[in-house]
Amino acid sequence: MPERVIIREEGPRDGWQNIEASFIPTETKLDYIRRLADAGLPKITVTSFVSPDWVPQLADAEEVVSKLEPREGVSYGVLVPNAKGLQRALSSVENGAPIQEVCFVVSVSETHNRRNINRSVDQTLSELERPIEEAHEAGLHVSGGLATVFGCSFEGHVPEDSVARVARAYVEMGADELVLGDTTGMANPVQVERVLTALKESVPETQLTPHFHNTRGAATANIYAALRLGVDSFESAFGELGGCQFAKGATGNVATEDVVSMLHEMGVDTGVDLDALIGVARDFGDFLGRPLDSHLVTAEPIRWDAERSVGGEA
Ligand code: COA
Ligand code: ZN
Repeated sequence: MPERVIIREEGPRDGWQNIEASFIPTETKLDYIRRLADAGLPKITVTSFVSPDWVPQLADAEEVVSKLEPREGVSYGVLVPNAKGLQRALSSVENGAPIQEVCFVVSVSETHNRRNINRSVDQTLSELERPIEEAHEAGLHVSGGLATVFGCSFEGHVPEDSVARVARAYVEMGADELVLGDTTGMANPVQVERVLTALKESVPETQLTPHFHNTRGAATANIYAALRLGVDSFESAFGELGGCQFAKGATGNVATEDVVSMLHEMGVDTGVDLDALIGVARDFGDFLGRPLDSHLVTAEPIRWDAERSVGGEA
């Protein structure tokens, strides 16, 4: 088990992309991003440079990154699906936006990739070669995002050979990290162990970052399976927000506060202030007018210190 885990907060990207009821004002987005940074999250994906027709909620990507405050100890990232998205991100960086990371995205399953990116898997991969180079030339850390790694709600089982093929293609193009998306929460811990063990053999030098959705309640068990293999980097979203509107039956990411609570109880450090993070999730629920789905927004954090005992008085 690692002693310390790095969490990349996906709430502002995966969490907000499918909130369609009303547009979250840019200043509100910036407030919550600031509070997530204050809570100690070391990496935060703040938006996507995708088509505003496809994802209207993130149409203010330029404005969000231009108003971001650089923060010691926090690395900000954006999702980009193609060359045009990267150009938008790079123009923002040239204009001073404090972005250090980009994440590309390809689904392992053809059907989800067509619905999400409007291309075949091979065409998407071939179109990413040059953008990955350009992102590196601009000094950015590059993650290769893989969606539907552990199952696809259109195609069902996703062959592990296909996962390895997309992973190798990214690594050959120079990706620094692979994000392994369980887009519709279909993974189980035994499968996670199998897939990660195989990837550690086929791309041994590359950092692996699982990204589990909690659709079937298995996400923290899946994280435990990955931790046992020494994986020390994960993505999650505060409040269990999230979901891909281009995948059937997709629901939220595992909640960052649930992951942080479990890790701290197991003696794994994250650098995150759990109380501050729970405050963020509760307030965002108030903003949306509904409680969010995470466990820690309702359960009290476990406190073993002298002033408070579980179920006791402060
Ligand atoms: N940002 C803004 N506009 C973009 C863009 C981007 N990254 N990529 C393409 N466009 C524009 C093009 O300039 C073109 O505009 P025009 O009609 O004014 O000339 C138009 O979109 C169509 O371009 P095309 O390359 O044919 O795009 P598409 O319609 O095939 O869509 C994507 C491809 C990738 C842009 C779209 O599928 C997308 O945004 N997907 C993101 C899905 C997502 O965010 N999923 C959740 C995260 S995993
Ligand atoms: Zn996701």
